[in-house]
Amino acid sequence: MNKSDIIRQLLAGRSREPGAQGAAYAPANIALCKYWGKRDEELNLPVTSSLSLSLGSLGAHTEVSACDGPDRVQLDGRELPPDSPFAKRLSAYLDLFRENHGFDVRTESSVPVAAGLASSASGFAALVLALNDLYGWELDRTALSILARLGSGSACRSIFQGFVEWHAGSRPDGMDSYAEPLQAEWPDLRLGLLELSTAEKAVGSRAGMKNTVETSALYSAWPEKVADDLLDLHTAIKERDFERLGRAAESNALSMHATMFSAWPPLCYWLPESVHAMRAIWRLRNDGLPLYFTMDAGPNLKLLFLDADRARVASHFPAMRVVESNERGMS
Ligand code: DP6
Repeated sequence: MNKSDIIRQLLAGRSREPGAQGAAYAPANIALCKYWGKRDEELNLPVTSSLSLSLGSLGAHTEVSACDGPDRVQLDGRELPPDSPFAKRLSAYLDLFRENHGFDVRTESSVPVAAGLASSASGFAALVLALNDLYGWELDRTALSILARLGSGSACRSIFQGFVEWHAGSRPDGMDSYAEPLQAEWPDLRLGLLELSTAEKAVGSRAGMKNTVETSALYSAWPEKVADDLLDLHTAIKERDFERLGRAAESNALSMHATMFSAWPPLCYWLPESVHAMRAIWRLRNDGLPLYFTMDAGPNLKLLFLDADRARVASHFPAMRVVESNERGMS
């Protein structure tokens, strides 16, 4: 089964003729329970389910149109060299849809690319939604989530706002592996972005998770850990039990990083500043401040806290950018 087979199924009976222009927006998302490891690399099928929170108005806005000649990819007003990793990934994805023409893709992103702030997720989700608009497919959200997953796994969650679960599924064709929003709101929950470095990372999450699955002795414990954390997160969200949510999210992220440390060659996305911030969070928590963090495949931390504690948290992390509840589209 390859990507083209899936796209043929999903687009059966729909137009392959692009209209004049398509445009769409998709939010970035931060996983509280991570996607780390694939059971199928071609289709980006995950070993486990995962659960995330979308970042409302922090994300990617994309316009796409067909053009003569090769693809042109613009990011934040700058044309990317066609051989840059991001442009190559987009072009390879667009190959799945094109018939003898190029695409002009213009993306404005409010999240830094490749700094562990889930920019490929919002980028691919916005592209899929913009293609849906360009071709007039009128696909449902499940089909759009599957299409986004073929570009980047975590992108399937960026089709939705709020809390989102990506069901791992078990079918070889992945038709049961898509994201769905949870029917839950938590208006007081805050996410703070602590950007410690925006440098491009040396090892992307795709290569990092492959290496981890193949070489880490700790990886066999990961699916069970995820199952426990997902249960905790569901209960925590339902009961608005913040300590339970924070603990599950932080412990899940640290366990993911533990699988990376035990891979070979070892993978460590942490900078000294990351560890410094973690220790500060643990100290503050010991002193009674309910503050937790999560981290992706990068050195930056995402802080989790309640609105009532915002001023205290901000006083310790003045550089933090708080994602507002209306930015998350949740209240
Ligand atoms: C650590 O979705 O970027 O952010 O499917 O290969 O494109 P590909 O990987 P990607 O991996 C994201 C990994 C993560 C955890 C998460 O977002 O769940």
